[in-house]
Amino acid sequence: MTAIDARPASAPAAAPAGLRFPPAFRWGAATAAYQIEGAASEDGRTPSIWDTFSRRPGAVRNGDTGDTAADHYHRMREDVALMARLGLTDYRFSVSWPRVQPTGRGPAVRKGLDFYRALADELLEHGIRPVATLYHWDLPQELEDRGGWPERDTAERFADYAALVADGLGDRVHTWTTLNEPWCSAFLGYASGVHAPGRTEPAASLRAAHHLNLAHGRAVGVLRDRVPAAEVSLTLNLAAVRPLTGSDADRDAARRIDALANRVFLDPVFRGHYPQDLIEDTAALTDWSFVRDADLAAISRPIDVLGLNYYSPTVVAAAGHGQDGGGGADGTGPSPWPAADGAVRFLPAPGPRTAMDWPVDADGLYEILVRLRDELPGTALMVTENGAAYEDYADPEGDVHDPERVAYVHAHLEAVHRAIADGADVRGYFLWSLLDNFEWAYGYSKRFGMVHVDFASQRRTPKDSARWYAQVIARGGLPP
Ligand code: NOJ
Repeated sequence: MTAIDARPASAPAAAPAGLRFPPAFRWGAATAAYQIEGAASEDGRTPSIWDTFSRRPGAVRNGDTGDTAADHYHRMREDVALMARLGLTDYRFSVSWPRVQPTGRGPAVRKGLDFYRALADELLEHGIRPVATLYHWDLPQELEDRGGWPERDTAERFADYAALVADGLGDRVHTWTTLNEPWCSAFLGYASGVHAPGRTEPAASLRAAHHLNLAHGRAVGVLRDRVPAAEVSLTLNLAAVRPLTGSDADRDAARRIDALANRVFLDPVFRGHYPQDLIEDTAALTDWSFVRDADLAAISRPIDVLGLNYYSPTVVAAAGHGQDGGGGADGTGPSPWPAADGAVRFLPAPGPRTAMDWPVDADGLYEILVRLRDELPGTALMVTENGAAYEDYADPEGDVHDPERVAYVHAHLEAVHRAIADGADVRGYFLWSLLDNFEWAYGYSKRFGMVHVDFASQRRTPKDSARWYAQVIARGGLPP
């Protein structure tokens, strides 16, 4: 495939040929329940906040919903067979809370758990390790009706739900992730409102962040008790925050955003406290009295692996340069950065862009991995998501040529390899995504899959990138 040579500008000019990864490196792909399953009202599932939000006029492009999505609930075996043909060693999926525990309370629904048991069995039969995420954004609507993540009780409900899933899947699933990208749940869900439940309450978003941390900590405890051999992780979308210049003002803007994007999660989980500068920066919104002493002990229980989702870097400057950091795709609307409005401006990073208009910059992935190497020594890392949306279509022969995605993944795998060579303990890489799917507020308009989905027929067509990734996996590294 010629496409392999088309690298984005950010890749090193003379990339080393034929990079090999460690023999035990985990080669995966990732998905999430609401984005692929469909079957939204089958077998006892009740609405999640995304079922509700996607029905709000204007919330999701084209009024799309996850009602059918990629119909994975009914095509699970076909999809696992596809994964096996690609040679995946691992598959990262999420468990739908309202499918397993409708309304967020009470006993588990057997059929809900059965689906994930069957999925795990099918994966194991094909030699693929299941990697289960407990929460990928589909909060039962009933819990939102009682206040959602800004309320402490939601974290306690999550612990109950985690116990149900641990009991149901603990004999089959070894690797667990508590939460996926709590930053998005807290700040896109409750500050900018571009994600469900669509609230624009900056003070509540900080409470949400804390209760998501608490939910994580409670779930770690539950998993340790019920699945003693479990490998337990948390997935964060850490930001590679770059100040526009070396000026004190721009560096201070970067510090602020680093606190709100990264350290609001990293510090309580790995150091047992919230950053003092974050508490000071947000003092006009909250006194953080919702944090109880015992919470931090729960939140900082050791985990085995830190998952990192990375797509593109963030360039910031002090107010006065660039555009403000609003919540909408065009930088307008309420901000997802509580108390940073007026102090920080966001600037477009240079370079080529994906269909999301996100800059392609693999160096940002390297930067974060070596930062984690330095700041969290001894912590195993996994890239639990990385990938790109492009304008993919099936040509008259039925093929989908996606050289940009191949180039994107190639460049980012090089960055991972470089980080490993420089001492970062990166155990695996999960491509986002296996299938084209429901891309949240963008609906089906953005295609991240290495497998094309025709949503009318549900036909799956592996793109060139899928064949390329299969070759990478088969050789344990990048081709020359
Ligand atoms: C991260 C999220 O976890 C996933 O659900 C989303 O589709 C991708 N980013 C792409 O935006």
